[in-house]
Amino acid sequence: MTASVSQPTPSLLQQKVVSVQQAEHSLTLEWETGESAQYHYLWLRDNCASAFHPETQERDFDLLSVTEDIHPLRIQVNDTSLDIVWSEGGHKSTFLLSWLYEHNYSRPTRARHTSSYQSWDSSFIQRIPRANYASVISDDAALYHWMVELDKLGLTIVEGMPDTAESMAALATRVDYLRQTNFGTTFDVVSVASPINLAYTSISLPLHTDLPNQETPPGYQFLHCLANECEGGESRFVDGLRVAEALREQCPDHFKLLSEQVIPFRYHDQEHDIRQHHSVINVDDFGNIIEVKYNAHIATVFDLPAEVMHDYYLAYRSFMARLRDERFEIELKLQAGQMVVFDNRRVLHGRNKFADTSGRRHLHGCYVDRSEFKSRLRVLAQKHG
Ligand code: OGA
Ligand code: ZN
Repeated sequence: MTASVSQPTPSLLQQKVVSVQQAEHSLTLEWETGESAQYHYLWLRDNCASAFHPETQERDFDLLSVTEDIHPLRIQVNDTSLDIVWSEGGHKSTFLLSWLYEHNYSRPTRARHTSSYQSWDSSFIQRIPRANYASVISDDAALYHWMVELDKLGLTIVEGMPDTAESMAALATRVDYLRQTNFGTTFDVVSVASPINLAYTSISLPLHTDLPNQETPPGYQFLHCLANECEGGESRFVDGLRVAEALREQCPDHFKLLSEQVIPFRYHDQEHDIRQHHSVINVDDFGNIIEVKYNAHIATVFDLPAEVMHDYYLAYRSFMARLRDERFEIELKLQAGQMVVFDNRRVLHGRNKFADTSGRRHLHGCYVDRSEFKSRLRVLAQKHG
């Protein structure tokens, strides 16, 4: 499969070009806003409208069909476009000025890639976004508004879930297809006689993210509460993003170790042995904290370089201590008919122990990955954004 890059969609922005300067490998446009932007010839040729299949919008241009010295023979600026006649193949390209302005890569990268995430602390309990099953299942605008909140804050509650085994997957597939794991496409969190993981007991589960032993841990987690009539069994959540932000501010050396060094995670049973090394905190190329992976139960024997081991443990403990700080945590008891949905690659979850004998507890779970979530959000935004 090939990557898809959508070519010029005219934007309402109509910026004017004041001057064009040509250099050996690029041209520079000065915009009437006072900004100037450099566009490289290889980049321009590679993004000519003709380089994309008219229907699929996937690039079908072969970059090696031109030399690295390709350059304009003629450049003409019109009211809304820039025309180039190239030195090779007599090829002519037309670029909308609005498209060039939108794709100005001379702007500082940080400004072009800001995160949509807003972190929270324990006060979030007062303002957890809530949505209604009946609306989200049937109305795209409601689906969109719920997903916007979920994207931004990483945790929401859906109320009014029908008391059926199917309702969770029906709602999750409104976002997109489900992520299958070794625990199935959907899974039941109930206390059982021979558990294959600690979630299937009645003991407390300390804060964790699910399945960091996977190469890509599952994205959004859906946990539909079918019954929670026992004593205990409250859910606990902490925004890993907020804790990582606090660590970065207060102990930058610890933050650096947790974001640069990798530790091993492993799940194994009779049929599986799934292992992966990961850093506990992931930062993207633009400095945004994009992921937290923490699960004491499946973090296995650390194999860090000897000279790093002690300092790493100090950093890890400092992160753990912050995770337990009640200023960051929210606690709630899910009721039958509620479903919590959260970004498993950002928000840590846990539960208090419960007494099996005091009443039934049954959660039904599944995951939808981040790529599918973001994709759906973009598509819905075209109509509802
Ligand atoms: C899990 C889990 C939470 C709960 O299944 O991964 O964390 O409330 N369950 O039982
Ligand atoms: Zn879990």
